[in-house]
Amino acid sequence: MASGIGVTPIFGIARTLTEAGVDMIFDCQRGKCGLCAVGIIETDGQIDHRDVFFSEEEKHENKRMCACVSRLASGKAVIDTGYRI
Ligand code: FES
Repeated sequence: MASGIGVTPIFGIARTLTEAGVDMIFDCQRGKCGLCAVGIIETDGQIDHRDVFFSEEEKHENKRMCACVSRLASGKAVIDTGYRI
């Protein structure tokens, strides 16, 4: 299980996790298809949802986010990628 991975705003979550060896599923990398969606287990920050896949209501719930384009505006988050060893 990968943990404590810092994400730079330039590369985003999906690319950073992939480079760290986490199997990520993604396709469009534009926030349209939703294949990269990950679960948000907890966060002490604000999620900056930049996708067009989730509805505004779903974005407000902060239960899932598109890892290709969305990011944390502040703080930290624990996410579930669905990746299991
Ligand atoms: S890869 Fe399509 S929404 Fe992220």
